[in-house]
Amino acid sequence: MKIGVLTGGGDAPGLNNAIRGIVFKAVRDGHEVIGLEKGWKGLIEKLTRPLTIDDVEEIYREGGTILKSSRTNPLKSEEVAEKAINGFNELGLDALIAIGGEDTLGACARLAERGLKAVGIPKTIDHDVRGTEYTIGFDTAIQIVTEALDRLLTTAKSHERVIVVEIMGRHAGWMTFYGGLAGGAHYIIIPEKKVDIDDIIRVLKARYERGKKYALIAVAEGATFFSSTGEEAEIIDEFGHIKLGGDVAKQLATVLKEAGFETRHVVLGHLQRGGSPAPRDRYIPLMLGIKAVELVERGDFGKMVALKGEEIVIQPLHVVKEGIRTVPEELYELVKPIFD
Ligand code: F6P
Repeated sequence: MKIGVLTGGGDAPGLNNAIRGIVFKAVRDGHEVIGLEKGWKGLIEKLTRPLTIDDVEEIYREGGTILKSSRTNPLKSEEVAEKAINGFNELGLDALIAIGGEDTLGACARLAERGLKAVGIPKTIDHDVRGTEYTIGFDTAIQIVTEALDRLLTTAKSHERVIVVEIMGRHAGWMTFYGGLAGGAHYIIIPEKKVDIDDIIRVLKARYERGKKYALIAVAEGATFFSSTGEEAEIIDEFGHIKLGGDVAKQLATVLKEAGFETRHVVLGHLQRGGSPAPRDRYIPLMLGIKAVELVERGDFGKMVALKGEEIVIQPLHVVKEGIRTVPEELYELVKPIFD
């Protein structure tokens, strides 16, 4: 068989291990593997490179993706969708393995419904793909968040400051939630739960009153706030919501400064996607890659390989189209005593 592989959407540490698993299994079983570069663009524009065991043997330590990535949407128009399907046929592919997040796998599901022989592998540092308890890159990303919070704590303490740390995640707060808990954040703000600014101020004041004149606030980039007093009129709109300008940490730090705290803010941004993958982002993607080839070999298309507990399971790709997986309110409420 001739198997095409692509990585779409934001890169994530561990992607190369999935590619490695695919190539090892496929080549050893006598198949040919073709890398499609820059996500769906590679299929649409036929940007290819052959992948051999020599190419992938030592990429387990490398972050990013050797196949490069893009956010090209193959369903942008009917014309583009046709180009993608034609690309598959013209390249003589027998199967496609798409490694990506909600967008990439959602597109893959729709193309599979149109007959594309495809299998998906879930990836995203956001950890928000439905149907799986694991997505490539998340473990590394929260390790980076944890380390960042550890480092920021000492400087916050030394200068008696509140440091607001912005963590990636526009719609799902998993990274902020788990990274924030692991890194001892004194308040965690996620997109799933709109937070009252006055509550943050109350928590900070209580800390300061008991002599703890420093704090770390972990805030997801997509978080929103409201204020019961409406005092922070400058950045709060007519509905009482803080205006999201893509710099939520900066805005929150400004509000807290106005409330009397010395503040600084840090945006972790793409640091969370960089560098070498953590151990779990090496061996799980490797196994998912091997399993994806198994599916291809038995012609089980329109599926995604996923993790449930310690078990690799097979899910229909269409589960991804049902929306994203977010932090449940009960989980957030459970940890509230830590930052109350
Ligand atoms: O999808 C992962 C992610 O890192 C999000 O957390 C973040 O909002 C987005 O990608 C950033 O995208 P880009 O790399 O295009 O700036």
